[in-house]
Amino acid sequence: MNRILITGALGQLGSALLKHYHDKGIFVLATDIHECPKGLVYNYEKLDALNFEGLLDVVKKYEINVIYHLAAILSAKGEKNPFHSWKINMDTFQNIVDVSLKCKIERVFWPSSIAVFGKDSNLEYVPQNSLMNPTTLYGVSKLAGEKLMNYYFEKYQLDIRSIRFPGIISMDTKPGGGVTDYIIEMLNASKKGNEYICFLDKNQRLPMIFMEDVISAITLLMSKKRSVLSISSSYNIVGFTTTPEECLLAIKSNGINLKVHYKPDFRQKIANTWPENVDDSLASKDWGWSPKFGLDKTVKIALNG
Ligand code: SER
Repeated sequence: MNRILITGALGQLGSALLKHYHDKGIFVLATDIHECPKGLVYNYEKLDALNFEGLLDVVKKYEINVIYHLAAILSAKGEKNPFHSWKINMDTFQNIVDVSLKCKIERVFWPSSIAVFGKDSNLEYVPQNSLMNPTTLYGVSKLAGEKLMNYYFEKYQLDIRSIRFPGIISMDTKPGGGVTDYIIEMLNASKKGNEYICFLDKNQRLPMIFMEDVISAITLLMSKKRSVLSISSSYNIVGFTTTPEECLLAIKSNGINLKVHYKPDFRQKIANTWPENVDDSLASKDWGWSPKFGLDKTVKIALNG
């Protein structure tokens, strides 16, 4: 039986994974840099993943054998202080690897991102193995992590698994400062009856995925025998692709008359170097990935959630 540790557990992805495993009756320890939120029903330790000794202590204390390392600074936020972002994204990654080797952790999950790609990646439909020249510090750190997970697997057989996530859509927890956040902000404005000022061009196409599909993908990938995985790096996946304008139309088809103004800012420049779509056929072939939520279904659920 697995005993799971999650770093960054109060974030967008962490909260959903935490709930998923808790509801399944699997032991899961949430850790994050914040004080334990009032009324939290999960096992919780306040812990900064930069703190190696602290990490080692909790892994031993709770007899952890699987780690989900989710703590990170996202793309747009990361540009505000690139040195700090590198430290958070990479030093914590190295700490997790070190602790995993010392404590014989069986499996690690670590999310990568579409931010690893760049202008040379055939952005209309990015293959699994593409040229990768990222433009953000976040993308650079995710690409470095991808190279390292391959390195540690070859050198120490450390089993780290990973997915390159597109924009993740969920309504329960706010995303933490990414380029794809516009879609969540737009959905929230619709629910509140506000107008929305969009920071991307109305025709900017980006890949997206609904949180339920994210959880299915992660749990599926983590459940497989290592031998079925043909790569020791990160897998492309996509739920659907959309633009702000298409998203607005989907919202309107639910009877909501949202007004959107377009004022692209620095995040548009980042989006220009990100994929419109990705080829996720290797994930389907290796571990049976297939999305269940398209734009209309996602928007409907998000508006009613
Ligand atoms: N949603 C993320 C971001 O925009 C992509 O990994 O930063």
